[in-house]
Amino acid sequence: MSELRLEELSASTIVAVNRLSLKPGQEQFITPVSYAAALAVTPANTAWQRVAVRDDRVVGFIHANFDAENSRPEFRAALWRINVDAKQQGTGVGTFIVNELIKEARSRGIEKLTVLYEAGDEGPEQFFLNVGFKPEGETEYGEIIAAYDLTSA
Ligand SMILES: CC(C)(COP(=O)(O)OP(=O)(O)OC[C@H]1O[C@@H](n2cnc3c(N)ncnc32)[C@H](O)[C@@H]1OP(=O)(O)O)[C@@H](O)C(=O)NCCC(=O)NCCS
Repeated sequence: MSELRLEELSASTIVAVNRLSLKPGQEQFITPVSYAAALAVTPANTAWQRVAVRDDRVVGFIHANFDAENSRPEFRAALWRINVDAKQQGTGVGTFIVNELIKEARSRGIEKLTVLYEAGDEGPEQFFLNVGFKPEGETEYGEIIAAYDLTSA
């Protein structure tokens, strides 16, 4: 399998991100309601958006948010969105991108990363558990709040 690298989101890669495909049934999991609500009140400069590139093609996207002042703990260092092109899913792209986010969070001295997701058969729950997130609560909309502990090795 050829090498993966991470790049900043740019005017040229954003077009490719918009073309990333999903498997049937995945659409409903892409933006939990709480993120849509939070986006309206989140400062633009807190976003961390990157694309994963393999063989010069964009194969995945991640949007995280670092907002230490946020009144809600689950939004202070949070993975907001991750998606991997349908044809490339299951080949390690998602794990690669999350591990890059973990490195970024560590370099910022952050102790805990969170993610919100909806439970369901076609959803990302098993993926988030596999990469090391642990469920710790629920939002008012019934989404699962899961956390990755960065204080352990
Ligand atoms: C969730 C997602 C990002 C995972 O990316 P990926 O590149 O397929 O993940 P990986 O190839 O790194 O897989 C890592 C592990 O999780 C498992 N896994 C990945 N997606 C899974 C799914 N939907 N259901 C069950 N297991 C899954 C893989 O089998 C693998 O397990 P292993 O380590 O035991 O082999 C991808 O499926 C996706 O884009 N889904 C649609 C969008 C979405 O729901 N995003 C999350 C909310 S924003």
